[in-house]
Amino acid sequence: MRILSIETSCDETGVSVIEASGDLESSTFRILANSISSQIDIHRQYGGVYPNMAKREHGKNLLATLTDALSTAFGDAVHRTDPKSLSSNTILKIKDILEREDELLKHTLDELPKINKPNIDAMAVTSGPGLEPALWVGINFAKALSAIWGLPILPINHMEGHIFSSYISGKEFTISNVKFPLLALLISGGHTELVLSEKGFLYKKIGQTRDDAVGEAFDKVARMLGLSYPGGPEISRLASNGHSAEKFKLPRPMLNTNDFDFSFSGLKTAVLYMVKDKKITERDRADIAKEFEQAVSDVLVKKTLLATARHQAKTLVLGGGVAANTRIRAAITKSFSDNMPDVEIRLPEIKSTTDNAAMIAVAGYIQYLKNGFSKNLNAIKAKGNLSL
Ligand code: KG4
Ligand code: ZN
Repeated sequence: MRILSIETSCDETGVSVIEASGDLESSTFRILANSISSQIDIHRQYGGVYPNMAKREHGKNLLATLTDALSTAFGDAVHRTDPKSLSSNTILKIKDILEREDELLKHTLDELPKINKPNIDAMAVTSGPGLEPALWVGINFAKALSAIWGLPILPINHMEGHIFSSYISGKEFTISNVKFPLLALLISGGHTELVLSEKGFLYKKIGQTRDDAVGEAFDKVARMLGLSYPGGPEISRLASNGHSAEKFKLPRPMLNTNDFDFSFSGLKTAVLYMVKDKKITERDRADIAKEFEQAVSDVLVKKTLLATARHQAKTLVLGGGVAANTRIRAAITKSFSDNMPDVEIRLPEIKSTTDNAAMIAVAGYIQYLKNGFSKNLNAIKAKGNLSL
């Protein structure tokens, strides 16, 4: 089965095409295209992502990202040699679906006549969680394409995508012999959660942040240290020059609570008091960055070990933008090999930690295997707070 997927939950516009076969016991995937158009340079100027700005950028970028993905996957076969006009009926349908997406509507009407229906069987689109206006652009675009090409749509949970991103390896990979229970530590700009799947990729959230997400804490602390958005990679870079300094000791919030929840807002505030109205040298900044990263890592590792032991998980998956952090990756790997060497650890490739559409397509195929296609396209809606 070939699936075309669309991801617009935050600040990356992604379109991917994959070929998938097999069943829930063992499935094989081939990535034919995985195109991304990043808005980071735009959001960097404003120090963060504003939902309506993200929505507008997705609207501008979606069509070009789609054509890029289709050309990569199918070469010239996607381009019509004789661009012919869309029928008036099709134009009406597209106008109806894209009525609130001005920019996208214009591009779609201009460019779709130049594209042949691609050789795909279904579409997958992120329906949440994420920024609602941004999610809607992707969903409406998927609906418009579905109306024209007559294809079913699979609405996908973005966090499930992050779980499967840890299985993406090169262009061809399999998901087989997965040892359950599987525990996923999902750490991104919007989420920090521990999710358990006892079997069959059915999920239960067993812990989450009570305030800021870990990526959000990285971004806010980065701003306090005068670093640009997104803060995670910047803090990491600065921390690599840092030393452990007693005078910059930070708390490890909820380290010893007997649950799987997290809290990062106190840690962020502790950094604020450390730097506010003080003369901070370049070396101090590096030491603070290092201690902050260490504090976050200590809490994540301890809670993940606790949850793994309590639920006797056999597989641990790491996912989300913060999973790119080398210190956290190394700490997870070391603590598991020291304490629970039998647990299979799956770290995503660094490039798969960022939001991308390939992970949504993989989750789409697994969802198809679990539940088949949704019957009612009207029921597909953006859900900013969608939970696993
Ligand atoms: O998953 P993602 O791309 O978007 C969301 O779904 O939120 O995650 C983005 C977050 C940002 O907060 C960014 O600062 C953080 O991931 N991040 C990192 C690193 N790279 C990205 N945090 C810590 N260390 C990194 N190397
Ligand atoms: Zn994400």
